[in-house]
Amino acid sequence: MSPDTLSSEITSETIEALLNRRSIRKYADTPVTDDHVNAILGAALRAPTSSNVQAYSVVVVRDPAIKEEIAVPCGNQQHIVSCPVFLAFLADLTRIEAAFQRHGHTADNNNLEMGLVATIDAALVGMSAYVAAESLGIQGVMIGAVRNDPEKIAEILGLPNRVYAVFGMCLGFPDQAPKQKPRMPVSGIVHHDRYDADASLAVLDPYNAQLRAHYEAIGKETTADSWSDEVDAKLSAKARDGLRAALKARGFDFS
Ligand SMILES: Cc1cc2nc3c(=O)[nH]c(=O)nc-3n(C[C@H](O)[C@H](O)[C@H](O)COP(=O)(O)O)c2cc1C
Repeated sequence: MSPDTLSSEITSETIEALLNRRSIRKYADTPVTDDHVNAILGAALRAPTSSNVQAYSVVVVRDPAIKEEIAVPCGNQQHIVSCPVFLAFLADLTRIEAAFQRHGHTADNNNLEMGLVATIDAALVGMSAYVAAESLGIQGVMIGAVRNDPEKIAEILGLPNRVYAVFGMCLGFPDQAPKQKPRMPVSGIVHHDRYDADASLAVLDPYNAQLRAHYEAIGKETTADSWSDEVDAKLSAKARDGLRAALKARGFDFS
């Protein structure tokens, strides 16, 4: 086995689909029907859920006017407007709160753990939906930009208190076949029995070079240390620094 890739004689349709996966931002006119969406979400809602709390909900958005509204706080990403179906994956504490109230308890001061449980639950449903969609030839891209302005997204989608959009997902039949973006060498990502800190950091230089070559091949402007420079530019200035306050206003304490 090369230290840069994991190879195996074993494969399956699901593994092949995951190995070929890439984000798709351009969609064919082929309709994504309600039957497609029902099949995708029916399967996705079988995702594991912490203590069976099912602290998630999904809004299926087809209305072009609503997709246009959603795109605005998401930095006007046009694939949100052009995709046939946009799914919003929500962390949802409302049913937990209702259960608490039956016992005279409140969900005020819900803590970091409860916020994480709901967020992780929603993410697992989202990824399951993504894989289910892929199995039908429907592909797309996740949209974390719904967290740019949680209150605006809540207003557009009519979300009550104790519900926030963790991420969205544009789905459609693909109208592009972009080159796959390389991932970091697995030698730094997968550890055996104990974490190897040197191996983890040793992948950075080779990956910076690999990602730079990828961007050059697709004609995208980049810099010498492609990944390191990109991550620093995007995240070192604390992206979405108002998020804790915005989510607190939505009824999530995260404290
Ligand atoms: C939680 C999450 C949020 C994302 N948000 C956006 C987004 O707002 N807009 C976008 O174009 N891509 C978004 N992406 C897609 C990533 O940019 C993409 O997965 C990454 O660059 C790797 O490329 P690939 O999916 O083609 O392999 C998001 C991905 C994830 C997992």
